[in-house]
Amino acid sequence: MKVAVLPGDGIGQEIVAQAVKVLQRLALPLELEEAPVGGAGYEAAGDPLPEATLALARAADAILFGAIGGPQFDTLPRDKRPERGLLRLRKELGLFANLRPAQVFAELAQASSLKPELVAGLDVLIVRELTGDIYFGEPRGISTLASGEREGVNTMRYRESEIRRIARVAFEAARKRDKRLCSVDKANVLETTELWKQVVTELGKDYPDVELTHMYVDNCAMQLVRAPKQFDVIVTGNMFGDILSDEASMLTGSIGMLPSASLDERSKGLYEPIHGSAPDIAGKGLANPLATILSSAMMLRYSLARPAEAERIEKAVRKVLGQGLRTADIYTEGCRKVGTQEMGDAVVAAL
Ligand code: IPM
Ligand code: MG
Repeated sequence: MKVAVLPGDGIGQEIVAQAVKVLQRLALPLELEEAPVGGAGYEAAGDPLPEATLALARAADAILFGAIGGPQFDTLPRDKRPERGLLRLRKELGLFANLRPAQVFAELAQASSLKPELVAGLDVLIVRELTGDIYFGEPRGISTLASGEREGVNTMRYRESEIRRIARVAFEAARKRDKRLCSVDKANVLETTELWKQVVTELGKDYPDVELTHMYVDNCAMQLVRAPKQFDVIVTGNMFGDILSDEASMLTGSIGMLPSASLDERSKGLYEPIHGSAPDIAGKGLANPLATILSSAMMLRYSLARPAEAERIEKAVRKVLGQGLRTADIYTEGCRKVGTQEMGDAVVAAL
């Protein structure tokens, strides 16, 4: 099993190193090969997605990804910026299905910004479409009008087939869980999402065992902080999913806990923590590696068909939390504050 390891920028190196340590401890026939991406790609090869990195990612069975971006890259031309590297990688590999689970570990209910009783036992799965929508729609750009005024344009666009394939992933996921799917749109204003709602409803006929509901995105943003446990699976477009998944992450206590999978039609996937590169704490050994470690568990489950090992990793993470170990982002009184490496070592020891 070949895994492309793309640490990226900022805290990417530190957190991915911990996940690699954990994977190596499992003694599976894994071939891990590292390559630069994002700002690191730009620095190494003048491109946030160097040719060789893309080739490695294509040839691999799965990709373990850290994080990209940093203030030093924000003034580069848009196509050289780190974010473009990640977006191109998603598009080139057809990684249209982004699974972002938000689960509250019992030990961390206190660390949530919501009252513990609102989040205890929370288990929501956000299924975000990842290769369409306003992220990729054409036309796009900034131009100067005849009057001399500048105008920015992006295009929100979805084809029926794109909606159907992500909805299918979501219905299938719901089927394996609590069999409730909430499709999130803004159909009262945006035609694109009116079509979204129609197509999801049509597909729902194939899944009579799954209870389908619809919600406007603004209401969903509110419901997620009012009563998040009402949700089982949420399916939505690229833009809404980006925003709602950051919001959902905070319910769990820390964005540093949330893994994600981005899958193609054949379950080849890219696995990354949902947080960013956190340049403010990069290189200080403070970052929480658990989201990346949990991402490697998702990789074993979804792309490498090793569910038992995935579970072992998840159990090990629960164990170290149970032991009271906390990185700064999830620290509460009475726990033991540890750094990135110590947390990684503890998970390895628990394995
Ligand atoms: C995410 C990130 C990315 C996105 C950025 C870094 C391009 O926010 O994975 O949620 O917007 O998709
Ligand atoms: Mg995001």
